[in-house]
Amino acid sequence: MDLGLSGKLVIVTGGASNLGRAITLGFAKEGARVVIADVDDEQAKKVESEAPSGTIVARHTDVTNWESVSSTVAFAEGSMGGVDVLVNCAGWTVDRLFMEKPRAEWEREIAIDTWGFINTVRAVLDPMIKRGYGRVVSIGSDAGRMGEWREAVYSGTKASVIAMSKSIAREVGKHGITLNVVCPGLVVGAVQDVHTRSAPEGRQGVSAASPRHAGRRCAGGPPAGF
Ligand SMILES: NC(=O)c1ccc[n+]([C@@H]2O[C@H](COP(=O)([O-])OP(=O)(O)OC[C@H]3O[C@@H](n4cnc5c(N)ncnc54)[C@H](O)[C@@H]3O)[C@@H](O)[C@H]2O)c1
Repeated sequence: MDLGLSGKLVIVTGGASNLGRAITLGFAKEGARVVIADVDDEQAKKVESEAPSGTIVARHTDVTNWESVSSTVAFAEGSMGGVDVLVNCAGWTVDRLFMEKPRAEWEREIAIDTWGFINTVRAVLDPMIKRGYGRVVSIGSDAGRMGEWREAVYSGTKASVIAMSKSIAREVGKHGITLNVVCPGLVVGAVQDVHTRSAPEGRQGVSAASPRHAGRRCAGGPPAGF
């Protein structure tokens, strides 16, 4: 099936590991060019080397930092053509009871999961509006729909990604731009053996017994047709 992605330019935040790596390689396989916007340069370079030269470009980007994000969008627009698709995949959490969680972990979750979304979406909207086309797909979580034990603030950040996507979609739909959120359940397995840096500090302690359900699209608005 032709997904219509050939020649599209895609930015994938968190594209160096796990879900982001799979998304990056999936787009590349469909003929898109991908900018990996990630803080993990070593992993990003490994993923870059998994596709023919020039297909995937690793660009150091910290999604919590506006200057870093806007510089990556300017780089993509200036050197690679217009950004058609943004995939917000960078995310971070450590599972821990709300009553036991240090403030620094909440702040990091909010910085990456909430501010990362705001910074990247805001940065791509100007050029997308100018061109009258754009697709934004954010990786939320079932935790953001249902709440999750030991993931209180993380659940809140993912719920906010859903609400912000619905709200911004109403604002920019008239410019040919859609925002959607995909909400995975627990994802562990083979990819974590390949090019992943995720643990030990990443999704540490995620319970295999966590009562989540896989892969539902959870934000409203038109589906993410490319
Ligand atoms: N793995 C799961 O079970 C699961 C379930 C539901 C939702 N999700 C969501 O899916 C997304 C990907 O999850 P994953 O398990 O692949 O995560 P991961 O920890 O394996 O990878 C996250 C990537 O984001 C990058 N990153 C971290 N901070 C960053 C920053 N400040 N700027 C740019 N990049 C940064 C990391 O370097 C890494 O490459 C996240 O948003 C996560 O919340 C994951």
